[in-house]
Amino acid sequence: MRVCVPKEIEPGEQRVALVPALVSKLTKAGIEVLVESGAGEASLCSDRDYQEAGATIVPDPGTLLGQAEVVLKVQRPLLNVQLGCHEVDLMAPGAVIISFFLPSTDPDLVSRLVERKLTCFSLDLLPRISRAQPMDARSAMSTIAGYKAVLLAANAYSRLFPMMSTAAGTVAPAKVLILGAGVAGLQAIATARRLGAVVSAFDVRPAVRQEVESLGARFLALDVTSEADASGYAKGLAEEDERRQRELMTKFVKEADIIITTALVPGKKAPVLITGEMVAQMKPGSQIVDLAAEQGGNCELSQAGVEVTTGGVMIHGPVNLPASMPVQASNLYARTITAFLLNMVKDKALDLGADDQIVRESCVVRDGEIVAAAAALGQATSGG
Ligand code: NAI
Repeated sequence: MRVCVPKEIEPGEQRVALVPALVSKLTKAGIEVLVESGAGEASLCSDRDYQEAGATIVPDPGTLLGQAEVVLKVQRPLLNVQLGCHEVDLMAPGAVIISFFLPSTDPDLVSRLVERKLTCFSLDLLPRISRAQPMDARSAMSTIAGYKAVLLAANAYSRLFPMMSTAAGTVAPAKVLILGAGVAGLQAIATARRLGAVVSAFDVRPAVRQEVESLGARFLALDVTSEADASGYAKGLAEEDERRQRELMTKFVKEADIIITTALVPGKKAPVLITGEMVAQMKPGSQIVDLAAEQGGNCELSQAGVEVTTGGVMIHGPVNLPASMPVQASNLYARTITAFLLNMVKDKALDLGADDQIVRESCVVRDGEIVAAAAALGQATSGG
C-alpha cells in the first residue's frame, strides 16, 4: 500500500500530516511512504529527515497524488492555484483521503469526491469513544488552541498577569474569564493559572465543574445547563435560556480583564455569549479572544481572522491557531492520523469494514457514495 503526504496548500497552514518520527510505524506495517518535497519544512522536518526515516521524496504534487492509494492531509483537499487544478482531480478513482474538516462547511468538495469516486475520512467526525482517543485529532488541536489563545491575550494585554508585591507597590492579578470548558477551555484555564491570573470559568455542562475547580479556577454557578448528548457534547440552549445566560454573565464579563470564549454546539452556529452591549461595559484595555469566531463567534462583534477594537476593548477572532505552533501541532496530528490509518490496516492492506464504529462514523464518502450522516453534511433530518 502506498501512502502519500502532500505539502499543505491552505494559506497560513504550516502543519504537515506526517512527521519523520512516525514514518517507521507505517513502513513496519508494510506501507510505502511518499512525501512531497518541502512538505514538512514549516514544522522543521526536512526532506532528508523523511528520507532517513524510510520515506521517498517526490518533487511535485501532481506526480505524488497521481500514484496515491492513501493521502494523508491536515486541511481538506483544495484547489491548487499554482497547478490550476483541484487536489481531488489529481487523484485516481478509488484513492482514499484522510484529513480534518467538517463536510458541512464544504458541500462542493463532497460533490467533487463523489464525482471522482474517491473515499474520504474526516478526523473531525471521529466518534468520541475510548478506543478512538489516540486518534482524537480534534482534542489534540483544541489543546494547542486553548494554550495559544491565552498567550495571544497576554501579549495584547498592556498589564501583567500575576499578582506582584514589589518595593514600589503591589500589582493586582489579571482577572481571566473562560467561557466553555471543553478541551480548549480547560487548557486555557491551566495556561492562565500558570501565568498567575485569577481565573473563573463557565460551561453549560455542570459535569465539568470539578475539572475546572481542580485546575484552580472558580466555576460560576449560573443555573443554566444543557443536557449532553451520547458523545458528551452540549446539546445547545433554547433561545430564552441563551438570553438568561447572557443576563447572568453580564456582571462577570464587566469585571473581566481577559475573556477567552470556546463555546461550541456540534452542527450549530456558535452560541452568542457576549453582546455588543456587554462589551461596551468592559474596561478599556480588556481583551476577548473568541475561539469560536470561525463558527459565527461567541461574541457578537467578533470577526474571523480580524482584530476589532471598540471602546478600548480588543476582540480577537483567530483562525487556525494550531497552525501557529506547527512543530508540536504536526507531531500530535501525525500521531492521531497514524493511529487512525493503522486501525484500518489488516495484512498490509486497507480494510474499510463498516462494522468498525470508528471507520463507519468518520467516513464522508466511500467509493463515490456519500455515507456521512445528514447532520455532518449540514442537512436537516426528517426527525428535526
Ligand atoms: P466543543 O469544542 O464542541 O465545545 C466546547 C465547550 O463549549 C463544551 O464544553 C460545551 O459544553 C461548551 N458550551 C456549549 N454551549 C455553551 C454555552 N452556551 N455556554 C458555555 N459553554 C458552552 O467540545 P470539546 O471541547 O471538543 O469536547 C466537549 C466534550 O466532549 C468533552 O468535555 C467530553 O465530554 C467529550 N470528549 C470526549 C472524549 C472521549 O474520548 N471520550 C474526548 C474529548 C472530548
